[in-house]
Amino acid sequence: MLSARTLCFLSSSIIAALIAFAATFSQKSSAKTYCYKSITLDSDLAKTDKAPNCFTVSADGLFSRVFYRNGVYVEKSHVIPGLWDGHGHLLQYGELLQSVNLFGVQSLNEAIERIRSYTRQHPGLGTSKEWIRGVGWDQAAFGRYPIAIANGTKADLEADSELKGKKIMIDRIDVHCIWVSQAVLDLLPNALPQVPGGEIITNPGPGVFCDNAMDIVLQYWPKPNKEKKTEFVKAAMQELNKVGLVGMHDAGVTPSDLRLYKELADTDIWTVRVYAMLECETRNTFCEEDAHILRQEDGKGSLLKSRSVKLFADGALGSWGSAMIEPYADRPSMSGSLLVNASTLSSLARTWAGIGYQVNIHAIGDLANRLAIDAMGDAYDVACPHLSAKDCQREYRFRIEHAQIIHPDDQERIFHLGIIPSIQPTHATSDFPYAEDRLGKERTQTEAYRMRSLLSLNPVLGSDFPVEPPNPFEGIFAAVTRKSPKTGMGKNGNEEGWYTEETLSLSEALRGFTTAPAHAAFMDGQAGIIRKGAFADWVVLDSPLESLDPDQLRDLQVKATWVKGRQVYRRT
Ligand SMILES: *[C@@H]1O[C@H](CO)[C@@H](O)[C@H](O)[C@H]1NC(C)=O
Ligand SMILES: *[C@@H]1O[C@H](CO)[C@@H](O)[C@H](O)[C@H]1NC(C)=O
Ligand SMILES: [Zn+2]
Repeated sequence: MLSARTLCFLSSSIIAALIAFAATFSQKSSAKTYCYKSITLDSDLAKTDKAPNCFTVSADGLFSRVFYRNGVYVEKSHVIPGLWDGHGHLLQYGELLQSVNLFGVQSLNEAIERIRSYTRQHPGLGTSKEWIRGVGWDQAAFGRYPIAIANGTKADLEADSELKGKKIMIDRIDVHCIWVSQAVLDLLPNALPQVPGGEIITNPGPGVFCDNAMDIVLQYWPKPNKEKKTEFVKAAMQELNKVGLVGMHDAGVTPSDLRLYKELADTDIWTVRVYAMLECETRNTFCEEDAHILRQEDGKGSLLKSRSVKLFADGALGSWGSAMIEPYADRPSMSGSLLVNASTLSSLARTWAGIGYQVNIHAIGDLANRLAIDAMGDAYDVACPHLSAKDCQREYRFRIEHAQIIHPDDQERIFHLGIIPSIQPTHATSDFPYAEDRLGKERTQTEAYRMRSLLSLNPVLGSDFPVEPPNPFEGIFAAVTRKSPKTGMGKNGNEEGWYTEETLSLSEALRGFTTAPAHAAFMDGQAGIIRKGAFADWVVLDSPLESLDPDQLRDLQVKATWVKGRQVYRRT
């Protein structure tokens, strides 16, 4: 058997062949050693002379040794710890990969064009059995909401001869609204109910349903079956590995999907570690029996873990759905809406914490964030009657998902308690075209899309894929520059980033995608770090991260990704 030690001393000319050779025998060998030009062990980017450049991976997929060997490397490349996305949606991303992608469309015509071309490539879709699905439209780019039907005749989708009569349902860019075709509207009752926490758009015509009102439509939607969902998982994981992700926090997994995950987590297609936040079949409820689905999976080697619940306080800013203390600057009659009232949110937090669960609350608007903190404050008493709130937080690690707009008084409360903000740097750069219109200058300046201000809370960073692309290097770019990774520019094409006082350093941003998500998922010392005993997950780059200009981060292509000692992606 080829010893790892000899591998390190061979001349680089025959090394490529040997790597392939070694990989072939990887199942048989017990431990394997890899040497690189340099290794970044954690988010600390300062290199010392004798920094480790080799590690050994044990048969059970852990780093068993991390060490320095003078002047040798097998691969002329550089390693960083495996990256984690602290907030994404696995199945929805897989579904996106297998549906119409409307991200970035600039007009309704372009949207219809894309739906039409997708439909041509996938004939047979759009029936009662399988609707045409998609995501990514934004009424801001259309100049109005899309509609299913206008003036009793036809509009938008229905006006297109190839799409006419087909069942189509397409999510808004933030997945808080859906746009449906006439054939879907025809399934609904004539008099649509008023849904608390939801909005049915009627201007300029019907066809769009937001937040809780989406349920009116969703009950008619033929949900993807198990086979389809397995395809989604596989497609999503492959794409995630491609951009250097070894793990993700899935911000809302229903009990039935969690059961499917559990079945798949032991198979070869499962190449991304998942920390799941349970979302009851009915949102914002207590489904205790489902909290036990994963208990026995908590073993050391498992690629699937969970001990958290996802609750939802409000909707999104783009659709004026986030719940604000004061009205919107650009719609003074509105201040968004809560999806649950304060007492329900609080009692949910208490019951979930009472069974040992980490409580993770989606909160965008400053009212939602306030109520989330209130609810968590109430839950500490139940979770740890004998500890201070601060110590209880240290143990339970409650999180606010998005933590997007927080009143200064509540920022103080978050600091006092140590609540973990879960932030998406690319939300700031995608929203900056309209955020200040919605919020006005003062709220934008003192409350919104903060990162540096929240740094001492060890914020988790992520992308909220499929809402934003999952590429963590785009997130790092956005965090470091506060410019859009799509254009490389700030607001209105400025050279300057947006509110650059909230930028992070490269090392701080890297922490947000490595050790911070590890902590927020109870995997300190195991994930997002290269050291003895940690998960053998790593990413191979052409150059050391710290040698790159921020602009090079934007389209950085990883060379290889390894999870649990197994190469799950290699650039060809
Ligand atoms: C519906 O008809 C009215 C009056 O003819 C017209 O002003 C309006 O633009 C039409 N709406 C749409 C969405 O076509
Ligand atoms: C909050 O909502 C729950 C459930 O919808 C309802 O039973 C309760 O009365 C509401 N509480 C208040 C204070 O409005
Ligand atoms: Zn999300």
